[in-house]
Amino acid sequence: MSVTVRVPAKVNVQLAVGAARPDGFHDLANVFLAVGLYDEVTVTPAEELRVTCEGPDAGQVPLDETNLAARAAIALARRAGIEPAVHLHIAKDIPVAGGMAGGSADGAGALLACETLWNTGATREELLDICAELGSDVPFSLVGGAALGVGRGERLTPLEVGGTFHWVFAMAERGLSTPAVFREFDRLTAGRDIPEPTASDDVLDALAKGDPDALAAAATNDLQPAALSLYPDLTATLAAGRSAGALTALVSGSGPTTAFLVRDAASADEVAEALRASGTCRSVRVASGAAPGATAI
Ligand code: C5P
Repeated sequence: MSVTVRVPAKVNVQLAVGAARPDGFHDLANVFLAVGLYDEVTVTPAEELRVTCEGPDAGQVPLDETNLAARAAIALARRAGIEPAVHLHIAKDIPVAGGMAGGSADGAGALLACETLWNTGATREELLDICAELGSDVPFSLVGGAALGVGRGERLTPLEVGGTFHWVFAMAERGLSTPAVFREFDRLTAGRDIPEPTASDDVLDALAKGDPDALAAAATNDLQPAALSLYPDLTATLAAGRSAGALTALVSGSGPTTAFLVRDAASADEVAEALRASGTCRSVRVASGAAPGATAI
């Protein structure tokens, strides 16, 4: 018997970053929106823990116990007092090291798949706790939809979404490391007074109304200057999407994927075509949200 779980990517429609904490993490007000680009994690009983991966970026995915899917299986098995004797196969469609929570998606997907296979009796709360131990964005990958994440981003409040938001995503030539982007944020803001991160009422209202113009006007990403500092070529990608008619252009999370909010599906196709023709990115995808969280299929 095997179980397959489908898990969405995310885009941050607001990412407010506070000062570095004593533990090195940053307090965030992180407004997540799940979008319809998916990884699928399939778990099958096996002699011992093994991870395989397929997809365009599969070569960049670690297959050892640093993989978040492997860590999720190990964490759940340990809690249940059993061996994590499974083969985890990841069909990867979310860009790797792209700022779209691809690794987090695999962690949440493996966790739900293993729980479905093993039936350890873990509650939703317990699964969310394991997710939070795995990484700041992993709980959101489990719940999907839209949510405000505070603390490291792991303490979630679900948000209302009043309509479909259409996006275009441009994948960059290379990845960016999330810790490196946060370190660059620290360097760029050194000596400055950094306010407490708080969710923007304008962002939450725009989501609730399903209003893309209002969301475009309100969306912000405090990590964007750091991502652009480490990857200056992204400026040209952002400009290409804006001049093609995107309502707004943002770095997605810690980047380097860039995200373009557009008014409707037709506009998404136009902006995607213009970005492809611009030569400023590796590939381009269209997706809309909110998308559901990790789901067994
Ligand atoms: O939690 P996660 O493993 O995804 O975080 C990866 C890295 O990103 C952390 O080690 C830290 O450097 C940085 N980070 C941070 N503040 C957060 C989330 C992540 O500094 N709230």
